[in-house]
Amino acid sequence: MTTEAIRANYARVASTYAGDWAETLATHGRALADRLRPAVTTGRILELGCGPGLVLSHLAAVNPGARVVGVDLTEEMLRLAPAGFGRVVGDAQALPLGSGVADAVLMPFVLFHLPELAVALSEARRVLVPGGSFGAVTWAGHDPHPAYEVWVRVIDEHGAPPDPSPQMPSNDITSDPVKLRIALQAAGFGEVEISVERFRHQPTAREFLAHSQVIGAMARRIEQLPPDRRAACLAVAEEELSRLDSDAFIESGTVLYTTARAS
Ligand SMILES: C[S@@+](CC[C@H](N)C(=O)[O-])C[C@H]1O[C@@H](n2cnc3c(N)ncnc32)[C@H](O)[C@@H]1O
Repeated sequence: MTTEAIRANYARVASTYAGDWAETLATHGRALADRLRPAVTTGRILELGCGPGLVLSHLAAVNPGARVVGVDLTEEMLRLAPAGFGRVVGDAQALPLGSGVADAVLMPFVLFHLPELAVALSEARRVLVPGGSFGAVTWAGHDPHPAYEVWVRVIDEHGAPPDPSPQMPSNDITSDPVKLRIALQAAGFGEVEISVERFRHQPTAREFLAHSQVIGAMARRIEQLPPDRRAACLAVAEEELSRLDSDAFIESGTVLYTTARAS
């Protein structure tokens, strides 16, 4: 998937992005922010790929005196960020910022979106002061998810074409603690600490269906169906999902919490 395709996807879903899923992600972003807390008291903190800015207020609250700035590729997402914070539209792989301007850089749930991962990590290092803090959260493993399996099967049965924007290779690195550590060290980071932690999200059937129509590979697949077929597909999915018990909707697995220091 190209960066332009990612931008277009997020621009399309921006108005419906807020919700229980975004809030679950933000919970991890805030927990990551807490781990950086001792590193910054004043100075500038950047969240790269901040989306609607659900982590920015927490960053400001735990770092009183710091200037918190949200950076995102997608202007439509960044516009949703709360007022009172710096906002910069920009690509994490070519940041429109000077060198050594930040004391901390956070990247929750964004590294796996970057085709040029090594370049982006070097950019994060470049904008940090020496000794500055870096933090990221990325996807690792996924547990079986019965509701998603039903959703995929129904979409297959309705003949939806393949995902036009399949997952990018950088996910192979960002989901693997060994490879991620090597990538960070190559970009000029030291004191790399990576921990594998649990992720859990339990939407209702209604929330699952609403979210699944706007985010992810299956959303991109059903969008390619003609309207009547798409409506039929959604009706079957809704009916089948309504027969599952609530545990079938639990999405769980592991995420990698990463912290490092600019050498
Ligand atoms: C899953 S959202 C995460 C939002 C936020 N960090 C959070 O955890 O709540 C991913 C965000 O990364 C942004 N993004 C994707 N590729 C990017 C890039 N190359 N540079 C900057 N932002 C990017 C998207 O526009 C989107 O807003």
